[in-house]
Amino acid sequence: MNYTKEDFGDDFKWGVSTAAYQVEGAHDMDGKGASIWDVFANTPGRTLDNQHANETCDFYHHYAQDIALMSAMNIPNFRFSISWSRILPNGTGTINYKGIEFYNKVINFCLELGIEPWITLYHWDLPYELEKKGGWTNRDIIGWFCDYVAVCMKAFGDRVKHWMVLNEPLVFTGAGHFLGIHAPGKKGLNNFLAATHHAALCQAEGGRVVKDFLPNSKVGSTFSCSYIQPYRQTERDYLAAKRVDALVNRLFIEPLVGKGYPVKDFKLLQRLEQFVKAGDESRLSFDMDFIGVQNYTREIVAYSYYKPFIWARIVPATDRMVDITAMKWEVYPECIYEMLKKFDSYKNIKELIVTENGAAFPDVVVDDKVYDHQRTKYLQQHIKQVLRAKREGINVSGYFVWSFTDNFEWAEGYQPRFGLVHVDFKTQKRIVKSSGKWYGEFVKSRADNSPWSIVNSP
Ligand code: GAL
Repeated sequence: MNYTKEDFGDDFKWGVSTAAYQVEGAHDMDGKGASIWDVFANTPGRTLDNQHANETCDFYHHYAQDIALMSAMNIPNFRFSISWSRILPNGTGTINYKGIEFYNKVINFCLELGIEPWITLYHWDLPYELEKKGGWTNRDIIGWFCDYVAVCMKAFGDRVKHWMVLNEPLVFTGAGHFLGIHAPGKKGLNNFLAATHHAALCQAEGGRVVKDFLPNSKVGSTFSCSYIQPYRQTERDYLAAKRVDALVNRLFIEPLVGKGYPVKDFKLLQRLEQFVKAGDESRLSFDMDFIGVQNYTREIVAYSYYKPFIWARIVPATDRMVDITAMKWEVYPECIYEMLKKFDSYKNIKELIVTENGAAFPDVVVDDKVYDHQRTKYLQQHIKQVLRAKREGINVSGYFVWSFTDNFEWAEGYQPRFGLVHVDFKTQKRIVKSSGKWYGEFVKSRADNSPWSIVNSP
């Protein structure tokens, strides 16, 4: 199937995504407070080769250059996040006006160049001062978070029309509070369950705060998801896949749409009850203007006697003779179509937007150029599956590539490169990769027979 950009319609939103901790650097400048990621990544043994994002791509000082480059690449929408501790160094209370000024400069420059800013309010970098009080495991987080959202609304709400409350709550609760491999490095079921319930409340309460201040804005929240399939056609593998699906794909969206936690398919979630207070059930739901779908791959799941609680294991893509990315994630483009279909099947979903999709590959710079044809192919194949969903009547209205520039990939450090733009982290030099050139031309193209306008997708 060939396709052109026009097949998506004029209103379709094309964009790129980043996140504060991964790109900003300037970790302690101009009054910024520490976040849990500042502390975690600067603790030996936590990240690949003890790498941290103290400087990373230094977007803090290169924002004008980067946004100008985005504009030169024809990219009309930019999703980025606000570092909570840059504007509220202690998490609550005193505002750091230098932090507000930085985001004002970013927003204003985007608007000046005709780029629409899309802001994620929380992309995993909780102020460390709040972590000292228990962070996501402390129910007081609901008040701290709503106050922070209100500060953002007052500071930026006159110009920013698109807001996302949380980025991938399952990842920061699961990796950060159960497995301990992300900040704040907590482990155990009770930490995970407490953080889960509080994050689920915050996603809905945060949405309400945005709408109270800005009734005409569009508010959503974003969800990680993977297409889950059983390894063998056995009942045990089928049930294992159901449990993993409930955890990975349904845990946060279902309370938001009023269905409650998916307890039926994953009994362990009943233990969330210990954190639930009177009135919480209705507080968990909120009618978002859009749902951000973030998908990269699929997972094959088998029953496992050795994995407590979930009794399931992921069969690694490396054992399955399939194409993989530098993250060892399978390249399986149909997954994004399947996930859009799954999210669309909930009642009252107004709009779906792919707020992240992309791939890391081992890029090489040759003569100041990066020929990353694997990434281009990955994007073309996935965009084709988004169109397939749209043609079947699913209301998907945008697609954002993760990521604009290479950046700090959490516990994996700088090794995986996801950018459309290559970054030399020593010199801060940017090189637009061939995938970035393709994406920019595609986003600009009209069906005019220019070589860029028709994607002859594999
Ligand atoms: C998402 C996350 C991003 C980015 C991406 C690639 O889970 O929101 O921050 O790291 O994955 O792994």
